[in-house]
Amino acid sequence: MNTSRPLAILGCSSESCSARYPIEERIYLCRQCGELLDVDYDWRSEPAADVKQRFLNRRTSGRAEDRSGVWRYRELLPFIEDSAKIVTLGEGNTPIYEASRSAEYSGLDSIRLKHQGMNPTGSFKDNGMTAGVSQANVLGATAVACASTGNTSASMAAYAARANMRAYVFIPAGHVASGKLSQALDYGATVIEIEGSFDDAMRIVRELALETDLYLLNSMNPFRLEGQKAIIIEMMEQLGWLAPDWIIVPGGNLGNTSAFGKALKELHDLGFIGRIPRLAVIQAEGASPFFSLFNSSDRSRLISNPHPSTLATAIRIGNPVSWKKALRTLALTDGVVERVTEDEIADAKAVIGRDGIGCEPASAATVAGVKKLTSSGKIGRDDSVVCVLTGNLLKDPDYTVDYHKGALKFDDGAGERLVPGSFRNLPVHAAADKQAIRNKLGI
Ligand code: F0G
Repeated sequence: MNTSRPLAILGCSSESCSARYPIEERIYLCRQCGELLDVDYDWRSEPAADVKQRFLNRRTSGRAEDRSGVWRYRELLPFIEDSAKIVTLGEGNTPIYEASRSAEYSGLDSIRLKHQGMNPTGSFKDNGMTAGVSQANVLGATAVACASTGNTSASMAAYAARANMRAYVFIPAGHVASGKLSQALDYGATVIEIEGSFDDAMRIVRELALETDLYLLNSMNPFRLEGQKAIIIEMMEQLGWLAPDWIIVPGGNLGNTSAFGKALKELHDLGFIGRIPRLAVIQAEGASPFFSLFNSSDRSRLISNPHPSTLATAIRIGNPVSWKKALRTLALTDGVVERVTEDEIADAKAVIGRDGIGCEPASAATVAGVKKLTSSGKIGRDDSVVCVLTGNLLKDPDYTVDYHKGALKFDDGAGERLVPGSFRNLPVHAAADKQAIRNKLGI
C-alpha cells in the first residue's frame, strides 16, 4: 500500500464473472450476470505496522477526515480521490465494552460488546452512509434514495442533509420504530410509507433507481459496505490487532455480514491480522430465510419469506439482498448462522440494559444467539467473543417500555400473545408524599 491512492474498480462479486467497471459509473449490479458488485483495489504493498501507526497518529489530528472512525482508516477504503468530497458527521469511534452480566447470561467467562449504536444517528449505518454519500457527492448526485426498516433512512437523511442532497426514504408503513421515523422526518427527508413490507419497498426503490436519477444508498451499493468495513477495522485496532475467536452480528439484509467478510479478508491478506475470526450471524426466528438457506442441503437458491415477522423491526426482512456475499463471508470465516425467538431477544436486550449499555431489539439478537451457541457447545465458555450492537436503545423506546411493563405483544400468526419478560423492571407508582414513598420503598 502507498499513501497515493491505489486503483479502485467495481468488480462483479460472482466468482464465475470477471466483469469490471470504473468506479465513476452509477451501477449497482453487474451488467453481464446481474450479481452485486464489490469495490476492488489494486493494493500497493506497505508494511502494515506503518499504516497502523498512521491510524493511531490521526487520533490527535483536528482534521475531520482523521477524526472520523471511518476515514481515519482510508488506506483500507481508498476510493475517494479528493478529501473535500467527504461527507462526515464524525461517525465510528464507537466504544467496545466488557459486559459481565451479558457474559454470565450467555454462558461465557467474558464478552465484549462493540456498540455501533453510539454513532451520530445511533446506528452502524453511519459507517456505511458516510462512504455512500461521499461517493454520491463525487458522482454529483443531487438526490439519494433507500428502502429501510428505519436506521438506514435515519442515517441517509442526516448525511444527505449535510451534503445538500434531497433524500427519499421508502419504509414499510407501521413497522418502523418511532425513534428512527422521527429522525428521518427531522432531517428533512421525504418519507414514503409503503403499504407493504421492507422487501416491497426494496423492490420499488431498486426499480426507481434504474429509471430516475436517484442514487441508491441501500447496502447493495458497494461503497456503503466499504464504510461498514471500518466497524471491523476499528474493532481490531481496539483489540490490539488480535482477532477474537468469534464476532457475532445480527442478520437482516446481510450488508454487514458481507462487509465484515470483506474487511477480514483484506486485513488478513494485507498482514494487519494474523488469523480470521469465526463469524456468527443471528436472525430472528420469524425472519430467518438466511438461517434456512445456510442449514439446507442446497445453498444455491434462497427461499424468501413473504411474511417476515419479528418485533425486532430492524431485521424484519424476508428477502435479503446480499445473501450470496454473506455466504462468501461464512465460507471465509468458517461461520455459522443461528436464529432466536422473540422471548430470547427480549430477555437478552434487558440483560444488555442491566449492564448499563442497552441497545435496540435487533442488536440483542447477538447476545441471545451467543447464549444458544454456548448451550449447544459451538462456542466455548472461554472463547473470546465480540458482539456487534447495531443500534441504540433509544431507537425503539416503545418496545422497551412495553417489555418492562409486561405489555410487549407478539403475533406469530397463531394469534397475539404476551412476551413473558424475565427481567422486567416495573415503574413504582406513588403518591406525591415523601414518607409514603419511603415506606413503599423501604428506604
Ligand atoms: N441491526 C439493526 C439495528 C439494523 O438497523 C439492521 C438493518 C440490521 C441489524 C441488519 O443489518 O441488513 O446489514 O444484515 N437495517 C436496515 C435498515 C435494513 O433499513 O435500517 P444487515
